[in-house]
Amino acid sequence: MKIALGFLLVTTLFVWIPVSISQDVAVALKTSLLSGSNYDKSLRPVKSASTAVNVDFDISLKQIIDLAEKEQTFRINIWLRLYWNDEFLTWNASEHGGVESLTIHSSDVWRPDIFLYNNIAETYGAIEAVTDVTVTSAGRVSYLQPAIFTSACLVDITKFPFDHQECLLEFGSWIYDGGKVNVSLVNPTADRGIFTQNEEWILNGTPMSRLVTLYPCCPDPYVTIVLTLQLERRSYFYMFNMVLPCIVLMILNLFGFYIPPDSGERLGFFITILLALVVFLQVLSDSLPKTSTTTPQLGQFFAATIWLVGISCLASIVVIRMSYNSPPSRPLPRWLRLLLLRYLARLFCMNTIAEEKHVVHPVKEGVDNLVFMDHDGDTIQQKDTPNFALDLSLREIVRYCREYSAQAREKKEEEDDQDEWKMAALVLDRAFLFLVGLANIIVCVVLLR
Ligand SMILES: *[C@@H]1O[C@H](CO)[C@@H](O)[C@H](O)[C@H]1NC(C)=O
Ligand SMILES: *[C@@H]1O[C@H](CO)[C@@H](O)[C@H](O)[C@H]1NC(C)=O
Repeated sequence: MKIALGFLLVTTLFVWIPVSISQDVAVALKTSLLSGSNYDKSLRPVKSASTAVNVDFDISLKQIIDLAEKEQTFRINIWLRLYWNDEFLTWNASEHGGVESLTIHSSDVWRPDIFLYNNIAETYGAIEAVTDVTVTSAGRVSYLQPAIFTSACLVDITKFPFDHQECLLEFGSWIYDGGKVNVSLVNPTADRGIFTQNEEWILNGTPMSRLVTLYPCCPDPYVTIVLTLQLERRSYFYMFNMVLPCIVLMILNLFGFYIPPDSGERLGFFITILLALVVFLQVLSDSLPKTSTTTPQLGQFFAATIWLVGISCLASIVVIRMSYNSPPSRPLPRWLRLLLLRYLARLFCMNTIAEEKHVVHPVKEGVDNLVFMDHDGDTIQQKDTPNFALDLSLREIVRYCREYSAQAREKKEEEDDQDEWKMAALVLDRAFLFLVGLANIIVCVVLLR
């Protein structure tokens, strides 16, 4: 027992003494480094005023918080990594108990005043001194600092929901020009090792570039680092919840043309689709970015679909009116017959029915005329007096026959006219079906790319 206790005491002492010594040395070292006469954290840490402080700049992306289309703002959580040499924070490690590095709070040492230039938050884009810095005995300072930045980002939603956006974050020293604080890049792209995937955006690229700019205020150029975030919207949500139902309605609209005009259901069907679309647009318009400068592609798609269904309604009204033209006030106009029953019917392979109908017409008239010519001939006139009564009644019969035939012919003509109108309506209906179908395909191809 005693041996065990003694062993414990000895090991504790051996462990504790070097730690305690190193702690004391570190405290002494820190005090000596940062004491008032040796160190002024508001001055650049160089011994010669003409030397530039070379700041190595690196960024690790943590998370995209939000990209607000309407406000044109972009919020992101990033980890900044800054490295520089501090000529006053050096020591000989072997003279200071082997202490190779020290951690000092970042507010106690000089830090480059890196600002986010295109900041729009209340913090003015400054980096708050929150974390500690690590200083090596050679004077190399590492400053790793998480920060949330809100920047202005010009969002162009013309191609919504298939849009790509580029948001820039421009970092640089606010008061020091390139000759005093020289910021340079460690990596050409931002590190994405700890990046959390965003639900709405895909991060395609994160190139960084070093920019040297001359401002009218000052003679020396300023160096800034521009981080470009190349974002692509995930359009699956919009495809599944908005575009797909709309396409279903489009197809239904097309099949509406197969409802016969006589059935009386047709107009109701189109109107129902139109109502469904309008209600649908109303419900889902919350998801569309509310801007008025440009109409997003999805909005254009909806508007085009509503227009097409509206045109289908109108076409349906025209077709129904044409096929119910009874009694026909007048025969089908010549140009309409030519256009619909000749050319369009041929175009849609409906010419067999169409031509049969209007070829029959003149032939019949010819036959009728022939019959009347025969009756009107001389034979009855030249037969003289003896059977005058018979002659009279014959004339009566002929007149009656003629009247009857004229009536029948009129009726037949009327029916033929009616048929022709119906046929024309059918051809027109087919033409509208093809037009709307074609327009649907064009709308889908152009607006859903
Ligand atoms: C550090 O101190 C040791 C011992 O005093 C000395 O031998 C060595 O040269 C010093 N190193 C430097 C870089 O000054
Ligand atoms: C600043 O750093 C760049 C490299 O990033 C270097 O080419 C340039 O000479 C430096 N400028 C000064 C003034 O040190």
